[in-house]
Amino acid sequence: MAKTGRPGWIRLGPDDRLGDRPLMPITVGGHSLLLVQAGGRIVAAERACPHEGADLSLGRCVGGRLLCPRHRASFDLRDGSVSPGWSFRALRLFRIESASDGLWLAVEAGLTVRTP
Ligand code: FES
Repeated sequence: MAKTGRPGWIRLGPDDRLGDRPLMPITVGGHSLLLVQAGGRIVAAERACPHEGADLSLGRCVGGRLLCPRHRASFDLRDGSVSPGWSFRALRLFRIESASDGLWLAVEAGLTVRTP
């Protein structure tokens, strides 16, 4: 699935890869991530909830927020911040770029990917 072509980025496929799906789990370099369509843009996030590890691909996206299916905390998809009343860390988000040759994921701190 993931291909390299430019340093520091991984190609995830065509930019219409999600189609009408609001959420799509993916695996990149052994990392479980989640692609989310929110407000006309695509966001990449870690797939496990930072609270107790629930699978966020089973959640919902509403009004620019990703809702955890287990305890209903929600995360702002602009910065990963958690809804009021929770004290655990923010959801980790990763940079995505939609280009003419597809959808690209930035390889940054916290997302190490080994390439052959
Ligand atoms: S596991 Fe997500 S809010 Fe508790």
